[in-house]
Amino acid sequence: MKTFAIWIAALLLCASAAHAQTAPLYQALGEKPGIAALMGDFVDRMKANARIGKLFDEIKPAYLKEQLTDQICELSGGPCKYEGEEMKKSHEKLGIDKAQFNLVVEILQAAMDARAIPFSTQNQLLAKLAPMHREIITVP
Ligand code: HEM
Repeated sequence: MKTFAIWIAALLLCASAAHAQTAPLYQALGEKPGIAALMGDFVDRMKANARIGKLFDEIKPAYLKEQLTDQICELSGGPCKYEGEEMKKSHEKLGIDKAQFNLVVEILQAAMDARAIPFSTQNQLLAKLAPMHREIITVP
């Protein structure tokens, strides 16, 4: 019985150690299933938006959702690898300005609100995305 208890304790320790390897932000976003659900809604909202929706006509929504999920998963410290196009290359032909970038941030915030993602988690994710404006905004 004692040996059994030691085994259980060892197993629990291993399980918590494995969990601790992924970052808090990744966990707060609901890990890969939560991020996939968030990105699914985010892409649907961007496509439905009157000001920027048309930009997404050429890209398959399922592909974009998958790329964004991998990217946010990796960025938040999860066990994923983003293998899509570089940010500069995938956005330079779109002629994106600051207002459009800010609109996308607002749409992401609305998608996070809809999933009741806490404000502090939202801010942590947005802080990681903000520096990407340098590669994405090409129109002053
Ligand atoms: C931090 C902000 C952003 C991130 C992290 C991001 C991320 C991505 C990713 C991962 C892709 C797929 C790349 C691939 O083809 O493999 C993509 C494509 C795309 N993004 Fe963004 N994006 C951002 C901002 C924006 C903004 C502001 C717009 C427009 C207002 C936009 C419009 C698009 C469009 C239209 C595509 C598809 C391009 C094509 O047809 O190939 N993105 N983005």
